[in-house]
Amino acid sequence: MRTCLSIILAAGEGTRMKSALPKVLHKIAGLPMVAHVARSAEAAGAGDLALVIGHGADEMRKAATKFAPRAEFFVQNKRLGTAHAVLAAREAIAKGYDDVLVLFGDTPLIQAQALVAAREKLAQGAAVAVLGFRTPNPTGYGRLIEADGRLVAIREEKDCSETERRIDFCNSGLMAIDGKHALRLLDAVGNQNAKGEFYLTDIVGIAAAEGLDAVATEASFDNALGINNRAELADGEAIWQKRRRREAMLAGVTLVAPETVFFAYDTELAPDVFVEPNVFFGPGVKVEAGAVIHAFSHIEGAHVGPRAEVGPFARLRPGADLAERAKVGNFCEIKQAKVEAGAKINHLSYVGDARVGANANVGAGVITVNYDGFRKFQTDIGQGAFVGSNSALVAPVKVGDGSTVAAGSVITEDVPADALAFGRARQKTLPERGRMLRERLASAKKAAE
Ligand code: UD1
Ligand code: CA
Repeated sequence: MRTCLSIILAAGEGTRMKSALPKVLHKIAGLPMVAHVARSAEAAGAGDLALVIGHGADEMRKAATKFAPRAEFFVQNKRLGTAHAVLAAREAIAKGYDDVLVLFGDTPLIQAQALVAAREKLAQGAAVAVLGFRTPNPTGYGRLIEADGRLVAIREEKDCSETERRIDFCNSGLMAIDGKHALRLLDAVGNQNAKGEFYLTDIVGIAAAEGLDAVATEASFDNALGINNRAELADGEAIWQKRRRREAMLAGVTLVAPETVFFAYDTELAPDVFVEPNVFFGPGVKVEAGAVIHAFSHIEGAHVGPRAEVGPFARLRPGADLAERAKVGNFCEIKQAKVEAGAKINHLSYVGDARVGANANVGAGVITVNYDGFRKFQTDIGQGAFVGSNSALVAPVKVGDGSTVAAGSVITEDVPADALAFGRARQKTLPERGRMLRERLASAKKAAE
């Protein structure tokens, strides 16, 4: 096993995002772009992470405590080019790794397999392995110049000759460098070029001149997609979602209209989950086998148990935990609540900070009144309880196992098991008075005309 360091360049200002947030912290599928890069690096066996930061350094450090708690930070104060940026992490490289991966924080669709392929080239003896891609429109990218299957140079667009400009094999910017050569090659880079920058790409020519092997590996264009503005961010999101939908379907999930279902980076769906059109998964969702998510549901931070049913038009908020065969129907909102096996909350309810016991039935329009404007309180609904429609359960309150709450009740006191509770004014019915009232109102109207 070769050891591996990944260096993620993220010192750019990202002015074209027109944002107060550093560019690489903008999210795809609910996760900052730079965290996607870190995850791919980790999946490719490069768990040791060096983050080169500049613009928005404090925010970057803070954000990274979540997605890369072990990362080391290196500040590049002046942006003098990609080789200069990599050398900001000199101390990390000097620790002596077999492989050094250089990645960009704004190239979030990079896949682990592409990095593994580049690392394999190092294992086979290459000193540098560059990730390339082909595109019919190479304008703006560095070109990969090959001879006899080897990479002899990377030329930036601005420094290309007419013929070189016609090459369609482009530099993604990402590469793997043999750790024992990395610092020497990087230190040899100068800035005699059109932009006056220290180009990382120059290490290819330097390695070749030393008689070392440099090679290019080919990956799909997505892997190299750099995000510079919010339109490209949306393009990146679309590519990510498309990949994820396909992965889910191949893993046994039915998506009736895949292009209308949106996943988060960590959505977990078991085989035989069935998802109707227009469903949004925010972060932290796990759905178990055989569950059905009906159309137009919004689910975040929730667990949906085996064969449970959600929606249509349901909202599961963080802490919603549905057990086996539980049902949450249309226009219901569930937050921080356990809905036990076979329990039903089918229409127009808000259930928050609660437990709904197994096989309980929560009627239409039932509300757990969990908040007094200052603090939150718990509602506990026992097994097999029946809560009549349009009741308000004013927490903290318990509705006992097998009890019944009459429709329209405002329940402020605990209901013992098997009891029947009314919490409403008694109905008064006055015979004939309806007709009398209507006649009086009609004659009053006539008199006024
Ligand atoms: C780079 C490559 C080019 C390739 C292209 C792919 C070089 C010299 N050129 O060009 O061959 O086709 O990527 O998109 O490497 N960065 C820093 N500090 C710096 C300079 C850059 O952190 O001093 C970071 C940027 O924030 C960015 C990445 O490095 O994430 C790439 O830099 P950028 O200026 O976008 O390089 P390109 O000109 O696009
Ligand atoms: Ca770029």
